[in-house]
Amino acid sequence: MIRKISIDELTLGMFLHEAVGSGITQPLWKVGFKVQHPVDLERIRAAGLDEVYIDTSRGLDISSDEPVVTVAPASQSLRDEVEQAISACSRAKRAVASMFNDARLGQAITSEACVAVVEEISASVMRHPHALISLARLKSADEYTYMHSVAVCGLMVALGRQLQEPDDVVLEMGTAGLLHDIGKMAIPLEILNKPGRLSDEEFAVVRAHPGSGLEILRRSGFLSVAAIDVCLHHHEKFDGTGYPHGLSGELISPMARMGAICDVYDAITSARPYKKPWGPAHALKEMAGWKGHFDQHLFQAFVRTVGIYPVGALVRLASDRLAVVVEQNETALLTPRVSLVLDCKRRQLLSPDLLDLASGEDRIVRIELPEDWGLRDLDQAWSSVPTQRRPLFG
Ligand SMILES: [Fe+2]
Repeated sequence: MIRKISIDELTLGMFLHEAVGSGITQPLWKVGFKVQHPVDLERIRAAGLDEVYIDTSRGLDISSDEPVVTVAPASQSLRDEVEQAISACSRAKRAVASMFNDARLGQAITSEACVAVVEEISASVMRHPHALISLARLKSADEYTYMHSVAVCGLMVALGRQLQEPDDVVLEMGTAGLLHDIGKMAIPLEILNKPGRLSDEEFAVVRAHPGSGLEILRRSGFLSVAAIDVCLHHHEKFDGTGYPHGLSGELISPMARMGAICDVYDAITSARPYKKPWGPAHALKEMAGWKGHFDQHLFQAFVRTVGIYPVGALVRLASDRLAVVVEQNETALLTPRVSLVLDCKRRQLLSPDLLDLASGEDRIVRIELPEDWGLRDLDQAWSSVPTQRRPLFG
C-alpha cells in the first residue's frame, strides 16, 4: 500500500516510494528505494520535504512492530562496510543466478529484478567505494559468471561516481554492468565451464555471446539502451581490433568503453580454472601497457576509481618492508593506508600494524608480486572477515 507520511515519521526500513511535491532531481528517489542506512535518512531529511510516500508492501509501515534493521554507523570505514558488502554480494549473486538461469531457460528477465540488485550494490559502493568491489573480486571458479556480473556492476557504479555522472546515469551504468554477459547464458554449459583450452569452434561459440545477449534483452522487452549497448559492445577495442563489429574510437559509446575496462579488470584479477589471478595493482600496470585496447581517458578515470594502489595490492616501502593496501586515501592516491606484512631483509613476518602513508612516515617504492615472497593470498589482510577460503600465507 502507498501511504503518505510526514517526514518525521520516516524511519530506517521503510521503502521510499516518492517524495511529495518537490523538485527532487535524485533519480534514485524517483524509482524508489528502501531506506536502510542513516546516511540515506539524513539526506532525505536534509532535502527540506514535509511529506513522502512510502510503499508498505516493500518496507516497514508507520505502525509496524518489526524491528528496524541494525545498520552500521554513518561514517563508514572499509572494515565496517565489509560485513554489509558480504551480505549484499551474496544476495546479489543469488539474484543474478536466478535471473541468468531464467534467461538460459528462454524466460524473460525483468527490469524490476535488475533494479533491486543494482540499488543494493550501488548503496554499498556509495557507503564505501572499495569494500564490495574488492570482495566481488574474490570468487571461486563455480560462481565466476554471477560474481563477475556483480563485480562489473560495482565497478561501473564506482566509475560513474568518479566521473560525477548524475545518479540516473550511474544506475544505468550499474545495470549495464550487471547484464553485460547475459549472452553467456546462450553458451552450452560444457563450453562455458570447460576448464581447459577451447577449440576454435568452441571459441567461436563464446565469441557469439554479445549478440546472444542483445537477443535475450530484446526478447525480454528490456528498454535500457545502455544495457543493450554494453551487452553488445563490451568486447570492442578502441583500436578497432575487438568484436563483434570491429568498431573503433568514438564509434564505441563511452558506456561500452567503460564496460570494456571494468570487464577486463575483474576478469584478470579473478581466479579461473586455467589461470591464477593477477593482483589489482599488477593488473592496472598490465592494462596500462595494452596500447589500443582501452580509451585512455576513461582508463585514467578507472585508475582513480580503484586507486593507483588498489585495496589488496602488495607494495614495498622505502623502509624495506612489504605491506598490503587496506584503504585508499581519497585525496592522495599515492599514500594509502597499509597493513605491514614482511620485513624484506630478515624475511620475517611483521605484526599487521596499520600505517597511514599520508603521515609521511614511510612511502611506497614499488608494487611487488606475492608469489615472489611466498605469500599466497593477501586478502585476509585487508578484510576483517574470517574465512577458510582465503588463507593468508601458504
Ligand atoms: Fe563478455
